[in-house]
Formats: sequence, structure tokens, C-alpha cells
Amino acid sequence: MDKIVSLCKRRGFIFPSSEIYGGLGSSYDYGHYGVLFKNHVKAQWWRSMLQERDDILALDSAIIQHPQTWVASGHLAGFTDPLVDCRTCKLRFRADKLDEAQCGRKPSKHPGETPDCDLTDARDFNLLFETTVGPVKEEGSTVYLRPETAQGIFLNFRNYMQFGRKKPPFGIAQIGKSFRNEITTGNFIFRTREFEQMEMEFFVPPDQAQMWFEHWLEQRMNWYVNLGIRPDHLQLRAHDPDELSHYSSATSDVEYRFPIGWSELEGIANRGDFDLQAHAQHSGQKLEYVDSASGERYVPHVIEPAAGADRALLAFMVDAYDEDEIEGERRTVLRLHPVLAPVKVAVLPLVRKDGQPELAAEIYRELSEQVQAEYDEGGAIGRRYRRQDEIGTPWAVTVRQPGAGAIPDRRAGRGDRAAAAGAVALTEAQRRRVTSMLTTSDTVAGAGRCSARTSTLWAGSSVMLHEPSAPVVPLAMVLRGPPERR
Ligand code: GAP
Repeated sequence: MDKIVSLCKRRGFIFPSSEIYGGLGSSYDYGHYGVLFKNHVKAQWWRSMLQERDDILALDSAIIQHPQTWVASGHLAGFTDPLVDCRTCKLRFRADKLDEAQCGRKPSKHPGETPDCDLTDARDFNLLFETTVGPVKEEGSTVYLRPETAQGIFLNFRNYMQFGRKKPPFGIAQIGKSFRNEITTGNFIFRTREFEQMEMEFFVPPDQAQMWFEHWLEQRMNWYVNLGIRPDHLQLRAHDPDELSHYSSATSDVEYRFPIGWSELEGIANRGDFDLQAHAQHSGQKLEYVDSASGERYVPHVIEPAAGADRALLAFMVDAYDEDEIEGERRTVLRLHPVLAPVKVAVLPLVRKDGQPELAAEIYRELSEQVQAEYDEGGAIGRRYRRQDEIGTPWAVTVRQPGAGAIPDRRAGRGDRAAAAGAVALTEAQRRRVTSMLTTSDTVAGAGRCSARTSTLWAGSSVMLHEPSAPVVPLAMVLRGPPERR
């Protein structure tokens, strides 16, 4: 994990928050590449929920909701962790996670293991963050920052029944910030007090609940695998009955093999009719489905895949992280799936002369209209490749003179072969293959096709082209492709 944390800081993915004031425990700021990366994770989630199926609608509900929400949901009474204090070192621990915690003594032990440890009895600590609405703190002004996005969906169920004209089975999905006053944090962005959730509540006829539960287990496992996570780094773990949340009749976690061990990446729960019944009771409103033709009415049951955007990003990053050695030099490569990569293509003039920067800048501007591109002309070409490797950029276009010397590549030897092959103009078929590789939605999320202008530019220019997996093509442009998955 230390290597990931250091890469994130070095390359501007994620910084500790409020660093100039000494930092605020377990709070992080996403930098430029982190924002791009997380946006792509969320875009892929939306894609799988909205674009690839027609039975789910989108929502963006408020973070601060009516306080009764949390009475009805059970969070005000029951969203607690057992807490113990150590009277000696003044640290606080989760009573159920003492074996994972470090006490304040040196050499480090678990709390309760040294003769000096003096732990209090466990007491329940509510994880809701409290604040007030209005200028004066008075009775009735207390509200809470939502600890899950799910409740906003239940509060809107009636609106969606009316406007959405959907009939169960159908779902409502949302992505947004949630807040929990966690006792134990740490492990970088794995557990923080402020985080983003990607949750979907799927409303089904009660007798179909088990079938849809199994459907969502499979769908969600596939989502991670299709985005590049190695299947043997994922597992499904069913909760024991004493682990289940108060609302759940069955939950399975998608677990990832993090550096801290197998840990929850996402929870998939059968929430039954707990939430709709609870909100109906507390609000006095009917929250049910009525079939206008048959008059049949029932309270739908709910299957909930609940993922964390930050935790998913961490898993994608850990899984893609690799180091290798080229000519005695160690380097970091993020072998990210291209749709998740913060930058899709880097455009690099080999040298800062002979018109190469001008041509490269023109190609960069053209590509930027279609995809997130980056232009870099500073330093040795090998170093620039390594900078892109570190942030997971799958493609690079290098502008150079035809017949110029070898270009160091991410796989040793390839540059030499390209140079030996010499440079010729791109054929129409080759040009089409490259533009479609760079711009089809299979490769690069959200990209359209290259404009006619880009195509003309590439076809007639004195640049060189490498393709990733195909044999090196003797062309006038070098395109580096994504590193292979291991
Ligand atoms: N609505 C159900 C629910 O919130 P959860 O298992 O508590 O279930 C769902 O949370 C997901 O949200 C987790 O699997 C995790 O990915 C993410 N998550 C929960 N607490 C988190 C925290 N403190 N920091 C980062 N991510 C968190």
C-alpha cells in the first residue's frame, strides 16, 4: 500500500487533505489525474446501470435530508460501532477490530496486549455526522449528513412510480458523497469519513427477490472483471447471520485481495421491504406498487448493489500497479484498462526542433477534441514514456523524422525494430485502424471518431507509428499501445 500512496502523491492522483495545516486524519483530496480516473470509474458504473440496460433510472438526491429519514431507516438508533478507549495512551479503538488495531505502545502491539493497556468497557458510538440547519442551534434544527445514498432513493420511490411509469422489476441508481464518523480509519482511501458511493436500489416483486439477488451478484462481479481486475483477486463472501445489517435478510460482499488482505469492495444486499415499510410508517404515505389493470398491490422488495467509488478506484489501482526493469532502471507501470486511464493518449515530439513540436501540438489539439490527451515535450523521450506509464496512459503518439534513430519503448527492442523498418507514409487502411483504435468507444470511453482533419494530418505527416499488439508497422508515426495485462 505504501507504494500506491507514494505514487498517488508523486503523480498528483491523491493528496492528504489540509496538508499545510498538518493534515486531517483520513481525509484526502483528489488531484488532476485522480479526478480524471475517478470520473472514468463512475462513468463506467453509470454506463453499466443506464446505458447497457433499460430498467434503471438515475437520481441525484440531497445530502442533507429530513431528520426523520434516519429515524425511519434505523440509523439514528442503530448505526453504531462498539468503541473502547485506552486510559493509558488515550487512543480509541473499535472493540470488534482490536486485533487489527495498533496500540500506542512501542514496540507496537494490539490494544489490550501490554501490561500498561487500560481499556474501558465497550460502548456504542453513533457514526452519523450531525450539523444544524439555519443560523441558530435550537430544537428541531439538528440534521445529519447522509451515511448512505440509498435512503434518498427510497424517499423518491413514489416520485419515480409516478413519473417513471416503471413497474417492478426496475431500479433507481445514484452516485454521491456519504459521510460516516468512522472510529478506525486508515489504509489510505479504503476507509475514510467522507467518501463516494455508487448505489442502486432494484425494486422487485417479493417472489422474485432471490432470483434478482443472484442476478446482481453475477453482474457486479463481471463489472470488475471486465474493467481489468484479475478474477483470482476477487471473491464473493456471504455474510453470516450475525453480521447482517438490521435491514438485510441476505448480503454478499464482493471482496478484493487488497494489500491489507481480502476486504469488502462492494456489498450486495437483499433489503426485503424494510425501507419502504419503515418510510411508509413514519411518513404516513403509501409506498407500494399498484397494478392499474389488475388492481394488484404490493410493497416491492429491494436488491441493492452498493459500491464505493474510492474503494473501487483503489482496487483498480492496486491491481494495475506493476514494476519492471528496463536496462537496469526500475520503473512503475499502471496497467489500467484504457477506459479507466486518466489520460488516453500522450503526444510527444521526439526532439524540440525540425517542426516536430508544431506538428505534435497540432495532433494533440485534434485528439483533445475527442479524448483526454496530453502533450509533453520536456526531457528525454524514455523519461516521458515512463511518466505516462506511471499514470497508466495506454497510447502515445511520437512525432519524429522518418528514418531517425530508435525510440526506447515500454517493451525492450520494439523501438529498434521500428527504426530498422524505416518510415513510409501511412496507408489508408493503417490510418483507419489507428484512428479507430484511438477513438472507438471500446478503447476510449466517450470518444467519437477522429475528424477528417486529424486523419489527413496523420496520413501525410512525417511522424512514426507503433501499434500495441500487432507487429511493428513501418510507418511515419509511432503509436505506443497499452502494456499487456499480466
Ligand atoms: N447502502 C448500503 C451501504 O451503505 P455499506 O457496505 O456500508 O452498505 C457500501 O457501504 C460500500 O460503500 C462499501 O462496500 C464500500 O465500498 C463503501 N464504503 C463504506 N464505508 C466506507 C468508508 N468509510 N470509506 C470508503 N468507502 C466506504
